[in-house]
Amino acid sequence: MNNDSSIKAFMVVVLVAVVCSSLVSAAVVILRPIQLNHQLLDRSRNIMQLTGLLSEGAEPGDEELLALYKSLDTRIVDIDTGSFDSTVNADTFDKRRAASNPELSVAVPAEYDQANLGRRSRYAPVYLVWREDHLDRIILPIRGAAMWSTLYGYLALEADLNTVAAATFYEHAETPGLGDQITRPDWLAQWKGRQIYDAQGEPRFAVSAGRVEPGSFTAQYEVDALSGATVTADAVTALVHYWLGPHGYRPFLDQLREQPPVQSSPARAEDS
Ligand SMILES: Cc1cc2nc3c(=O)[nH]c(=O)nc-3n(C[C@H](O)[C@H](O)[C@H](O)COP(=O)(O)O)c2cc1C
Repeated sequence: MNNDSSIKAFMVVVLVAVVCSSLVSAAVVILRPIQLNHQLLDRSRNIMQLTGLLSEGAEPGDEELLALYKSLDTRIVDIDTGSFDSTVNADTFDKRRAASNPELSVAVPAEYDQANLGRRSRYAPVYLVWREDHLDRIILPIRGAAMWSTLYGYLALEADLNTVAAATFYEHAETPGLGDQITRPDWLAQWKGRQIYDAQGEPRFAVSAGRVEPGSFTAQYEVDALSGATVTADAVTALVHYWLGPHGYRPFLDQLREQPPVQSSPARAEDS
C-alpha cells in the first residue's frame, strides 16, 4: 500500500491507539495490587502510630507493621445509633466510598455541618486498643473541609473517652508552609492530654487563636495557633467539634461509657 494512502495512515493511528491503550490497561491491572498494598501499609503505619503499642523510635518493617495492624480490634460503628454493627465487614469497608454512596451515607443537617461535609458515611471503622484486658485507647477516623482540601485524620482517645492520646492528619492538600502545619509533629504532640469535652459535656477542644499559656485554664483544651494558617486551624477545630458532637461519635461514646466493650481479640500489650 502506498505510504501516502489515507487508509494506511488511519490504520497506523488505530494500531498505535490500540497498543497504547492495552499497555495502559495492563499497567493499571498489574499495578493495582501494589497500589492497594501501599494504601494498606500507609493506613497501618498511621494507625499503629496512634495506638501507643510501638515503643519509642521503633520502626517496624512492612510485614511486622501489617501483622500488628491486622491484630488490632477493628470494629464498625453505626454512627447514628452509636452501636457496633457486625453485619458490615471491617476489613473491606471503604469509608470514603461509603460517604458518596446514597445507601451507605446520610446528609449532614446544616446546623451540625461545621466540618462542611455535606454527607457522611453511616458507618465508621474504629480501632480498639487493649492493654491486658483493659481498653487503653480508641482510634476514630475524622475528616473535614479546610481552605483548599478535605483533611483526613485519626483521633485517639484515652479510655476515659475524653482525653486525647494522639492525633494525625494523613491526607490533605493545604498549602505547604501554611495549612500543612497540621502535620508538624511538635504541634500534633501538643494534642496529647488535651480534653475534648468541658464539664458540661460540650466539645471544647480548639486550636487556639494564639499561643497557649502552659498551666492556664484553656491549656487543658487548646493547642497553639498555626501562624498564617487560621483558616485551616479553624477547620480543624470545627471538624473535631463535628465528629465528637451529636451527629458524629457522641452517641457511640455515650454508649461505650454506659456499656464498656468486651475484648474480642487477644490482648497485644507491650507489642513493639
Ligand atoms: C496562596 C495562598 C495560600 C494560602 N494557603 C493557606 C492554607 O493552606 N491554610 C490557611 O489557613 N491559610 C492559607 N492562606 C492564608 C489565608 O488566606 C489567611 O490569610 C490565613 O489563614 C490567616 O491566618 P493568620 O490569621 O494566622 O494570618 C493562604 C494564602 C495565600 C495567599
